[in-house]
Parts: sequence; C-alpha cells; structure tokens
Amino acid sequence: MQVIETVSRLQSLADTERASGRRIALVPTMGALHPGHLALVEAARERADRVWVSIFVNPTQFNDPADLDGYPRQLEADLDRCRECGVDVAFCPSVEEMYPAGSVTTVQVGELGESLCGASRPGHFDGVTTIVTKLLLASRPHVAVFGEKDYQQLAVIRAMARDLDFGVEIVGVATVREADGVALSSRNVRLTPEARSQARALVRALDAAESAVGAGEGDTRRILKMVSDEIAKAPLARVDYAEMRDPHSLKPSPPELAGAALLALAVFFPASDSDSTGGESVRLIDNRVLVPSGSSTQQEP
Ligand code: PAF
Repeated sequence: MQVIETVSRLQSLADTERASGRRIALVPTMGALHPGHLALVEAARERADRVWVSIFVNPTQFNDPADLDGYPRQLEADLDRCRECGVDVAFCPSVEEMYPAGSVTTVQVGELGESLCGASRPGHFDGVTTIVTKLLLASRPHVAVFGEKDYQQLAVIRAMARDLDFGVEIVGVATVREADGVALSSRNVRLTPEARSQARALVRALDAAESAVGAGEGDTRRILKMVSDEIAKAPLARVDYAEMRDPHSLKPSPPELAGAALLALAVFFPASDSDSTGGESVRLIDNRVLVPSGSSTQQEP
C-alpha cells in the first residue's frame, strides 16, 4: 500500500492509473476506522480496480473546537487496517497541504445543507463540500463511496457532484450496526459506558416509528411523539433534533405522510471522563427512510 501525503503526488498517480485504463474508487474518511468504513472499502472494491482511502480530520467541518480536539486520531492503526483490507493507496495529507495559507475558495450547496445537522452545526456542510471537492480533485476517482448513516451529507454530496458535473459516481452504503443495533460511529468510543448502553434509544426510536408507519400510522406529529417518548427512556439523552423530512429535498414532511419520509435523529450523550475535552457531550446521529405500505421502496438521498 502506498501512503501519499501530497496532492501533487496523488494527482500524478491518478493520471497514471487512468492512462492505463484502471478505475479508481475513493473512500473519504476522517480516520478512526471501524467496520462501517471497511464496508465502504468493500463497496469500493466491487466497483473499481484500485481502492484509495483518504484519512484527514477536516478542521473546516467542525464548528466546535472541543469536538475537533476530541475527535479520535489513530493514524498508524488506521493504516494497518487499510493494509489488512487491501487498500491500494492511503492519502494522509496535513492540514497545511489541504488548506495552504491564502486559500479562499469554498463550495456551498445552499438550503440542502442548512437544515438538520447544518442548523445545529452552522458551516458544517460548507466544510464537508469544500474538502470533498478537494479530495475528489486530488484523487480524480471514477467512484466515491460514503455511508448512509450521514444521510444529509450523502444528499449534499450527490447534489454537489450533480450540479458541478464532477463526473464521479457517488455511491451510498447501508449503515453498519453493532450487535445491539447502535450505528457504528467513530464517536461511539467517546461515550461513557452508561451512555453507550443508552445510545440504543436511537435505533429503538427508529424501529418504533418504522413499525407504526408499517401498521398504517401516517400522522407525522404522532410518529414524532412516539420517537421522543422512546428517546426519553434514556435519561442521559438530550435530543438535538428528531425530524421527518422528504428523503430527496430534505424539506419538512407534510402533517399526513403522502409517501416515504426520512426520520432523522441527532442526540447528545455524555462523553467519557477520559475524553480530552474534559467530559463534553458526544452527538450521535442515525436515520431511517420510513415507507408507508403501498409506497415505492426505491429511496436514496
Ligand atoms: O464522513 C466523513 O467522515 C467526513 O465528513 C468526510 C466525508 C470524510 C469529509 O471530511
């Protein structure tokens, strides 16, 4: 596996691979790799001759400096994992490499990035779209693979790639879960043991809403009440948002469901004492597309 730290080296390797007719798939990550990332690598492997993983904790997508400081960093362990699963290139640039002094350009998708996580974390998606653009321009892949756990991020990236004619296929991969149903996230390791156990409230709430919609419940307010009752059973949980949205536009669902709806959750839990931020909260997200019986199940952000 090649470990590359500069944009210019990555671009020239991309040119060589492309000239030889080989397809490149990029898996952009911020490291702290877990089996959810490995599922992205597998999906990339199915679609390309070369799998490249970028590992870069992108400062511009963190609006909270404590969150950036506390984000887990374990580069050597990540590189070992990449080698074990046959990654061809790990791109691990420095902050200075990605944002040289004097950088002034950003990429924005407007409204799509302003609700849900964009409302709770102002500027977050401008950071995501800017770094993803830079990573795609650095690696010139045919395919780029992202997790569906970050549903809004995937929707934002798809819109950006479409609107700016990136010519890169954007692939979404289903959320990988722990045995108890909690969505895998690099942030899970920062939870206190009790918070980790209560984090199951998110998937319980998604399950409850899905069963209700499957049984014919279409009243958005009643579904959201069921969700908040379920999360309230976890006393350590503090809801950031619990919302139902159109799965494509991410606009609020109508009071009575007329088709599939995205149920999106973001919930704070206490961070462990060993956390370098001194016990800040950890914000977990999860989502599910709820499909009333009789509606189409073909949904992707
Ligand atoms: O999903 C992530 O890990 C990040 O938001 C991404 C896409 C790698 C951009 O920094």
